[in-house]
Amino acid sequence: MPALLEVRDLRVEYHRASGPVVVLNGVGLTLQPGESLGVVGESGAGKSVLARTILGLLQPPWRIVGGSIIFQGQDLLQRSERELARIRGREIALTTPEPRKHLNPVRTIGDSLADVVQAHSRVSRREAYARAVALLTAVGIPDPGLRLKSYPHELSGGMCQRVIIAMGLAHSPKLLLADEPTAGLDVTISRQILDLMHELVNGFSSSLLLVSRDLGVVAHYCQRVAVMYAGQIVEVADVPTFFAKATHPYSRRLLRAAAAARDERRGVSAAMGERAIGGDTECAYVPRCPLAVEACRQQRPALEPLRDGHRVRCIRAAEIASGAVEV
Ligand SMILES: Nc1ncnc2c1ncn2[C@@H]1O[C@H](COP(=O)(O)OP(=O)(O)OP(=O)(O)O)[C@@H](O)[C@H]1O
Ligand SMILES: [Mg+2]
Repeated sequence: MPALLEVRDLRVEYHRASGPVVVLNGVGLTLQPGESLGVVGESGAGKSVLARTILGLLQPPWRIVGGSIIFQGQDLLQRSERELARIRGREIALTTPEPRKHLNPVRTIGDSLADVVQAHSRVSRREAYARAVALLTAVGIPDPGLRLKSYPHELSGGMCQRVIIAMGLAHSPKLLLADEPTAGLDVTISRQILDLMHELVNGFSSSLLLVSRDLGVVAHYCQRVAVMYAGQIVEVADVPTFFAKATHPYSRRLLRAAAAARDERRGVSAAMGERAIGGDTECAYVPRCPLAVEACRQQRPALEPLRDGHRVRCIRAAEIASGAVEV
C-alpha cells in the first residue's frame, strides 16, 4: 500500500539577524494509512516544527531549505498556499499544546465551529450549527447546545482541547497531527482526551502522528515510535521492538528517564540535559554520548536498518544491539 505521508530529508531553518539556525536537519519518516506514529524527544528537538511544516504553517523567518513532504502521492512543498489551505483542515488537521490560544476569544465556540464546518463544505449556517452540536457531542462535551454559546474563557483547558479536536475532526481528515494534545492537563482528563482522539481517529480510519514527551502515552496509543534528537530522527521502530530493544544511546537514555519519571511523577524532559545542536559533520549526540568514539566525530551517521522496520542512526548500533557494549 502506498504511504499516506512520506517526509524525505526535510531541512528547515530559522533565520536570525546573526544567521540561520538549523532546526530540522534531514528528517525522514513515513506513515501508512490508518497507522499511528508517536514522535518523541526532549524539548527543542523539533517535534512541533515538524508538525507545523507538514501542515504548511511556517512563515518567515522560518525557511524550508530542502526535502519533500509527499502526502497522498503529491509533494505538499510544491503546492500553492491556496491548495494548502484546502488540504489543511479537510485532509490534515493539527491539535496544539495550547488550545485556548487557538480559539478566537471574542467568538463563541458555536460560531468558531460553524466557521470551520463551512470552510470546507457548502452547508447553510443552520446546518453548520447542527453539525457543531454533533461534533461537541462526539468529543464528549456535556450540554452541547448550551456550550455553543460559550466563549473560550468560560471553558476549562480540557474542554478547549476537546473543541480543538472537534474542529480538527470536523471533516474526517486522513491525517491528524496531534502536538502534545494533553499538555498541562491532569492525568484523568488527559487519558479521557487521548482515548477520545484514538476512538475518533480509528472511526475515520485516519492516520495519527502523535507528538509527545510521554513514552507511556506513545506506547499505549501508537503502533510505531520515532525518536527525534536535535532535528533528526535517530531511531524508528514498532512499539514492542522499541520498548524491548531500543538501541540508540539517546533512546535508551529516554527510556531510563521515563522509568525514573514514573517513580517521581515528573516529565521526561525534566530529566534531560541541555539542548543539543549541530550534527552535520559529526553525530549530533556525540557531546552527550557515553559510547562516542573518534569515528563518531568524523561524519554524521545515517539512519540504517538494524532489523525489519527498526532503524537506528548510530554507527555502534550493531554492537549495542548484540550486547557487546553496554549503554
Ligand atoms: N519562535 C521561535 N524562534 C526561534 N527559534 C525557535 C522558535 N520556535 C522554535 N525554535 C527553535 O526550534 C527548535 C525546535 O523547536 P520545537 O518547538 O519544534 O521543539 P519541540 O520538540 O516541539 O519541543 P517541546 O517538547 O518543548 O514542545 C528549538 O530548539 C528552537 O531552537
Ligand atoms: Mg513542541
